[in-house]
Amino acid sequence: MDQEKDKYREILCIGAGYVGGPTMAAIADKCPGYNVTVADIDEKRIAAWNSDTLPIYEPGLDAIVKKTRGHNLFFTTDIPAAIKKCGIIFVSVNTPTKTFGDGAGKAADLQYWEKTARAIIEYADDDKIVVEKSTLPVRAAEAMSRILQSNTKGLNFEVLSNPEFMAEGSAVSDLENPDRVLVGAMQTRSGIEAQKKIVAIYANWVPKKKILSTNVWSSELSKLVANAMLAQRISSINSISAICEKTDADVNEVSKAVGMDNRIGPKFLKAGVGFGGSCFKKDILNLVYLCDHYGLDEVARYWEQVVLLNDYQNRRFVKNIILNMFNTVAGKKIALFGFAFKADTGDTRESPAIYIGKMLLEERAELNIFDPKALENAKKELKDTEGKIEYFEDPYECAENTHAIALLTDWKEFADYDYKRIFDSMAKPAFIFDGRNMLDHKKLFKIGFNVFPVGSEPMKHL
Ligand code: UDX
Ligand code: UDX
Repeated sequence: MDQEKDKYREILCIGAGYVGGPTMAAIADKCPGYNVTVADIDEKRIAAWNSDTLPIYEPGLDAIVKKTRGHNLFFTTDIPAAIKKCGIIFVSVNTPTKTFGDGAGKAADLQYWEKTARAIIEYADDDKIVVEKSTLPVRAAEAMSRILQSNTKGLNFEVLSNPEFMAEGSAVSDLENPDRVLVGAMQTRSGIEAQKKIVAIYANWVPKKKILSTNVWSSELSKLVANAMLAQRISSINSISAICEKTDADVNEVSKAVGMDNRIGPKFLKAGVGFGGSCFKKDILNLVYLCDHYGLDEVARYWEQVVLLNDYQNRRFVKNIILNMFNTVAGKKIALFGFAFKADTGDTRESPAIYIGKMLLEERAELNIFDPKALENAKKELKDTEGKIEYFEDPYECAENTHAIALLTDWKEFADYDYKRIFDSMAKPAFIFDGRNMLDHKKLFKIGFNVFPVGSEPMKHL
C-alpha cells in the first residue's frame, strides 16, 4: 500500500521544453512532498537544464530551478528508468502542425506523442496516470488511451488532460498564480480517482475554487478555445488598425475606449505587427482542422480568418515600410529592434520578425538585427535565408548607418534608448516603424525621425 502511495509522489514529465521545464520546476518548488523528474531525448537540452545556463530564458526561472534541482527536481535522459519509477507521467513533447500528408498545414502532428505513449507501454511495470500537458486535438486522449491499453502486460493507464495556460515571459508568475487549473478525466471510477491525484498536486498552492475538474474532452477543447479567443482579439484590433490608418482614428484610443467596457476588458487589445509564438497559430489551425473534419465549414472558415488576418498584418507592415521609403528598400539597411515573438523571452518560434525579416530580404533590403535575448535563435531561424544579415549585441551599433528601424518586439528597454544618439548615427532621412506602438512618437519626431506607428497617423518631415 505504501509503495502504491509513494509511486504517486513520483512525478515524471517527458519533454523538457518551454512548457515541461518551467511547469515541473514550479511543481517541485510548491510540492516538497513530491519528487519531480523531467526527461527528454535531447541530451544537450538536459545538460543545459543541469547547468548554470538553462536552455530557456524566463524571468524567475533560474531561482526556482537552483532551489529545487538535486533536491526534488531532476533532469535526465534516462526515460526508461524514469517511467518505471513514476506513477504520474506528464507528457509535454512538441505537437507541431503536420507538414505532410492528410491535414498538412493544419492538423497536429502527433508522432512524438505516440512514440512517447509507446515508450510508456514498453518500460512500465505497473499502472500509470498519463497526463497530456501538450496541447492536443480534441479526442486525442481517446486515441492515446487506446494505444496505451493495447499493452499486453495487463496494465491500466488512465489518460488525463491538464493543459498549460502559462504565457512565455511570465511563465513563473503564471504558474505560481494561475487564473485556473484545468484537469480533465474520463468520467469513470478510475478516471475520477486519477483526477483527484492530479488535483491534489495543484492544491498545494492553487486555491481549490480555481481548480476545475471537467471531462477530458472539455479540457482538451478549452485549451484550443482559450488560445483561439486570445488570438482572435489581437486579429480583431489589428483589423481595426488598418481602418484607423485610412481614417484619422488612432487605434490606441479606440482600443482604450473599447477595452474600458467591462464586458470587453482591456487585455489583448494591443495592435501591432501580429501575434507570434508556438501556440496561437498552431492551435487555431488545429481547431480549423477539427471543424473541417466534422463538416463545420462555416465554423472552420470563421476561425481560419484569425490566422489569415495575422498574415495580412505582417504583410501590411512590410508594405508600409516599402511605400514610405520611396517604394524601394533594395540596398537599404534596416535595423530590426527585437526578434523574439514577445518581450521577456528568447523564443522566436512563429515570431512576426521571421516573416517581416524574410519579406524585407526578398525586397533586397539588408538587415541589422538586435535582440536582448533572442539573437542565437534569430540566427537559427534565418540560417538558410539568402541576403545580407548582420547580428548585433548592441542596439546603437545595430542602428548605425541604417536607413530605418523596424521595432518588432515589445522589450521595455527599447523605450529607454537614447534616440538622439541613434538618429545622429543613421542615414537620412531616418525612419522608424514602431510595430509595437511603444515609443514616444512625438519625441522621436522632434529629434528628426519620420515616425510610423501601427494604426495611427504617421509623423513625417518629408
Ligand atoms: C510543446 C508543444 O509545442 C505545445 O503544444 C505543448 O502545449 C507543450 O509542448 P514546448 O514545451 O514549447 O511546447 O515545446 P518544446 O520546447 O519543443 O519542447 C518539447 C520537448 O520534447 C523537446 O525538448 C524535445 O526534445 C522533447 N521530445 C520530443 C522528447 O523528449 N521526446 C520526443 O519523442 C519528442
Ligand atoms: C499564449 C497564451 O497566452 C497562453 O495562455 C498559452 O498557454 C500559450 O500561448 P504565449 O504565446 O506565450 O502564450 O504569449 P502571449 O502573451 O499570449 O502572446 C502571444 C502573441 O500575441 C505575442 O506575439 C504577443 O506579442 C502578441 N500580442 C499579445 C499582441 O500582439 N497584442 C496583445 O494585445 C497581446
